[in-house]
Amino acid sequence: MQKTVLVTGGTGYIGSHTAVELMQKSYNVVIVDSLENSELSVLDGIEKITSQKPKFEQADLAERNATLKLFEKYPNIDAVIHFAAYKAVGESVAFPLKYYRNNLNSLMNVLEAMALHEVKNLVFSSSCTVYGQPDVLPVTEQTPIQEANSPYGNTKQISEEIIRDFLHVTPSIQAIALRYFNPIGAHESALIGELPIGVPNNLVPFITQTAAGLRKELSVFGDDYQTPDGSAIRDYIHVVDLALAHVKAIDRLFNGEAKKTIEHFNLGTGKGVSVLECIQSFEKVTGLKLPYKMAARRPGDVEQIWANTSFANQELQWQTQRSLDDAMLSAWNWEKRIRKI
Ligand code: UFG
Repeated sequence: MQKTVLVTGGTGYIGSHTAVELMQKSYNVVIVDSLENSELSVLDGIEKITSQKPKFEQADLAERNATLKLFEKYPNIDAVIHFAAYKAVGESVAFPLKYYRNNLNSLMNVLEAMALHEVKNLVFSSSCTVYGQPDVLPVTEQTPIQEANSPYGNTKQISEEIIRDFLHVTPSIQAIALRYFNPIGAHESALIGELPIGVPNNLVPFITQTAAGLRKELSVFGDDYQTPDGSAIRDYIHVVDLALAHVKAIDRLFNGEAKKTIEHFNLGTGKGVSVLECIQSFEKVTGLKLPYKMAARRPGDVEQIWANTSFANQELQWQTQRSLDDAMLSAWNWEKRIRKI
């Protein structure tokens, strides 16, 4: 029988791409989103790609009653992928309570509702931020967790602990926490992509908005890191590859292949790429010249991090299939479409 997956935050960036991949694998998808940081029009993009309209509910999962009502309305949910959360690192430093209240309450409400309605499978959006600046690279799932360097990062660490503790007393639920490295790019159709609000904090939306003429120039934060070209290194993963890993995680839970009640997986490409290399890739695939200047380091940034992805490759039977160039081109095609360039 067709399984139903509740995708919280499903009109957001990673959620929308995951909803598409789930629907294309014949999962029945219910999206819930508060629409605080995303737009209803994302559903049209999903429908155009998949030729189906996903079911949609607008609700704020940080509200307990709204969460319980949602699960009452959809009694046949087989799994939850919990994306819904605030994610701006800088904002979390300025408004820590807003972040703790939203990200932790929504998770606890979802867990409570899952237990009440006997929903047995959870995939949770975590982040490589839980590793801080690791001493040894690349990072494996065994790399020690370090003190978080932002309230946002701390919500991801605490969330993983909340899930662990709750599953300890609720062994009927199994969970997979996916630790994302840096998701970039957009769907190849350019019908869905990232829609940052205001001035983008993240590198790739800033690059594409600069190329589109919305920003004067990109500041490369830091030219004196101990890296080959002096700029910081990250592991940039195409959002569609990331979305496909969620489908694999869901398959794993449904197939009963999980080996522990909570499993953690790094999701990256296994390759470190510098900020300057990102700019080069963008210029190469678009043929454009990107205006940029070298600037001071951004407070809170780690120097370099990339993933060891062996565990995800083996256990999820998942490999990334898209390159940095593919991601840059798809991000640009998306930017061009939304700006009507
Ligand atoms: N960068 C610039 N100029 C910009 C924006 C970013 O040089 O205008 C640089 C950053 O300094 C960093 C790299 O590009 O070296 C990547 O920065 P992003 O902001 O795109 O991504 P981060 O690695 O800082 O953050 C991401 C996610 C967070 C997550 C974090 C974990 O956005 O949600 O990874 O490391 F917590």
